[in-house]
Amino acid sequence: MSSIILIGYMGCGKSTIGKRLSYARRTPFLDTDKIIERKVNMTISELFEKEGEEYFRDLETNCIKDLLKENGQYIIAVGGGLALREENRRLLKKLGTVIYLQANWETIYERVKKDTTRPLLQGDNPQEKIRSMMAKRAPIYQSAADIIIDVDNKSYEEIIENIQQQVEAFTERTVRT
Ligand code: S3P
Repeated sequence: MSSIILIGYMGCGKSTIGKRLSYARRTPFLDTDKIIERKVNMTISELFEKEGEEYFRDLETNCIKDLLKENGQYIIAVGGGLALREENRRLLKKLGTVIYLQANWETIYERVKKDTTRPLLQGDNPQEKIRSMMAKRAPIYQSAADIIIDVDNKSYEEIIENIQQQVEAFTERTVRT
């Protein structure tokens, strides 16, 4: 059995759903943003400000490489931009089953509108920023995913149940082929 990796836009619920899934599957939970923050002893905002986005993106790639070397079994929530690098998408597939938590922009906007910790959402007109960023990223998330889960207007219980069913079906399919 390998890991389960949750991808998707900021605010789609990767951390909350990841923790609940971790409990349901008795599998430890990891969050790449938190691993990186601990490693550099800075918040993501400080890291973007002091070292720039590219540096952060390199740390994300290194983080996935380290997890591959470790060869453990985890539920992993990755930062919203991690799956955008082609190399990272390849590494994620090796790491385990990739699940895209798909949400519409209204859901995302409601969840992140008061957030100050995500550097890419600060500044003027966050609604427009979210809409255009999501439109660009959606096909990339889709291409990276083994399983797509719609999270709009669903309770966490429904989402977890849906994930469990789809993971089981996916595992059966991949074992048989
Ligand atoms: C980012 C998402 C954030 C964090 C950073 C950049 C992105 O993680 O990695 O602010 O590019 O989408 P969350 O998706 O956990 O908010």
